[in-house]
Amino acid sequence: MLKVVVCVSGGGTNLQAIIDAIEAGKVTNAEIKAVISNNAGAKALDRAAKHGIEGICFSPKTFESREAFNEAFTAKMKELAPDLIVLAGFLVKIPGAMVEAFPGKIINIHPSLIPSFCGVGYYGLKVHEKALERGVKVTGATVHFVDGGMDTGPIIAQKAVYVQPGDTPEVLQRRVMEEAEWILLPQAIDDIANGRI
Ligand code: GAR
Repeated sequence: MLKVVVCVSGGGTNLQAIIDAIEAGKVTNAEIKAVISNNAGAKALDRAAKHGIEGICFSPKTFESREAFNEAFTAKMKELAPDLIVLAGFLVKIPGAMVEAFPGKIINIHPSLIPSFCGVGYYGLKVHEKALERGVKVTGATVHFVDGGMDTGPIIAQKAVYVQPGDTPEVLQRRVMEEAEWILLPQAIDDIANGRI
């Protein structure tokens, strides 16, 4: 059984998609051991609690320096000892020491077709604002392994989503979630849990 820790910052709809897929038997051989959020008010923590999953708040704001946070966060992850760390809308940069401690065991979902609209400053709604500003007709989502860079690790899966006339960033964000993210991320976990990746 693949032990998974999911890291989240906000709404947690991707977390919900993973929980639902596990409960529905669409993801097998995997269990969520804990959910970590940098934000005590994250709705994602309520979602975890509702499903009996341990929720842990770990915020850089409560540490005297980023180094102290990175050290404590990495130590906590080592203590949890997951087989897979899933970044599901986690807006904190993963410490280098954690990437080194969990090689090939950290994956991230990003709401664009990498290498478009990714890297520093591209997160959440901003990604869709930039895609609409540029006038692309196709966008999508990407699941990738996490390396030391920002959205630079090997790509696991991508799914394209059409931009529609009149889309706002919010409408596009929702379509990318529904048509791509909520499908791709559970699928990638199932593939890893069952030895296909
Ligand atoms: C998702 O769209 C996810 O792809 C994005 O944040 C959102 C979180 O939504 N992640 C990034 O932008 C990472 N660079 P959720 O909390 O409802 O799952």
